Amino acid sequence: MKGKLIIFEGVEGCGKTTQMQLCDQWLQSLNIPTLMTRQPGGTELGSHIRHLLLNKTDNQPIADRTELLLYAADRSQHVEQLLKPNLLLGKLILSDRYIYSMIAYQGYGRGLDTSLIEQLNTIATEGLESDLTFWLDVDPEVGLNRKRGDGDIFDRIEQEKIDFHHRVQAGYTALATSEPHIIIRIDGSLTREAVQENIQEVLKNKLQSWGYITM
Ligand code: TMP
Repeated sequence: MKGKLIIFEGVEGCGKTTQMQLCDQWLQSLNIPTLMTRQPGGTELGSHIRHLLLNKTDNQPIADRTELLLYAADRSQHVEQLLKPNLLLGKLILSDRYIYSMIAYQGYGRGLDTSLIEQLNTIATEGLESDLTFWLDVDPEVGLNRKRGDGDIFDRIEQEKIDFHHRVQAGYTALATSEPHIIIRIDGSLTREAVQENIQEVLKNKLQSWGYITM
């Protein structure tokens, strides 16, 4: 059986990483072979690119198009080295971010042309689409405050002005409206347990239709 690709998306502090990890534990308890990964940074090369993108320490700004291409380079390597071979092995891959992050952040956030970004995503992924994407919908200010409350040090993107984060959120909202069967909106403002319950509810039906479990 060919594997499946499940993505977790959303603004900073939306809870996607925690929810993905809880999901992974649950899937493993069902004896489903999983692989957790992330963009940027799911490969060794990607982890260098992630560092350049998020933890750059000199004061020279990264141009928007350079940023776009670095995310695309990370994606291309990730698809080739990790996603494709593991899908062939039948793994259920859980990825922290994928193509929609680029439309939301570089398209809506930075204002780059979204149709060009779609083409770039197609080049980087060779057309590999997700089987399911969860969008954890949280107000950006709530997300950033959560991060502040956890004492997180903000990276280069998290340090952007609040307007940028609102534009990113508007991007996710538009994407979820135009692709409701692929992008599933989950209310990320609920408790951790309630969010996980809602994710598992959607996933149970999918796992059944994909043949991973029988009811
Ligand atoms: P995170 O993995 O901690 O969410 O950090 C990744 C950061 O990179 C986050 O600020 C979103 C941003 N990003 C983009 O701007 N474009 C992309 O295509 C991806 C995958 C992430």
